Amino acid sequence: MVLEAIKKRQSVRSYREKEIPEEVLQQILEAGRLAPSASNQQGWKFIVVKEEILRKKLVPACKNQKFVGEAPVVIAGCATNLDHIMSNGEHSYPIDLAIALDHMSLEAASLGLGTCWIGAFYQDQVKEILGVPEDVRVVALMPVGYPKELGSKTGRKPLSEIVCYNKYRT
Ligand SMILES: Cc1cc2nc3c(=O)[nH]c(=O)nc-3n(C[C@H](O)[C@H](O)[C@H](O)COP(=O)(O)O)c2cc1C
Repeated sequence: MVLEAIKKRQSVRSYREKEIPEEVLQQILEAGRLAPSASNQQGWKFIVVKEEILRKKLVPACKNQKFVGEAPVVIAGCATNLDHIMSNGEHSYPIDLAIALDHMSLEAASLGLGTCWIGAFYQDQVKEILGVPEDVRVVALMPVGYPKELGSKTGRKPLSEIVCYNKYRT
């Protein structure tokens, strides 16, 4: 079941104007809410941007990626706890936010909606537009909507190239 949604998901860069029914949006957000996070801190806030004026303002802040303003909803994944560093030396917040947003994108795909990860944006501009406090970071944006056009599927490296067993092998 999960693999079905994983296979279905692809970046959508063209959206219909059609509104997302509230119960569908809530289901997508619920998938993010249930995501795991380091020490279960859930140091996140998801801004659901519906207002057209704000969505249009996000376009230049996203380096003129027009489809960001086309989608009826843009979710901004914000990290509220930037200080937590795990014993492995890694900050947990980008990982936590990525898992939650990925849960949402897979739930959206399973419901017939499209999403696209957006990492190409100006942090300061997006924070200003969405009123994000100084000590919070926007990790990624994610337009959500019904796809107008689907691009061609992207390829992936074969398992034989990316998996090794027992010890690291190049
Ligand atoms: C962290 C991250 C940031 C990304 N930023 C952008 C972006 O700013 N604009 C965009 O069009 N796609 C962006 N993408 C989408 C990738 O280009 C896309 O996922 C990749 O090419 C694989 O294609 P697929 O999503 O259709 O499978 C981003 C993806 C990730 C995971």
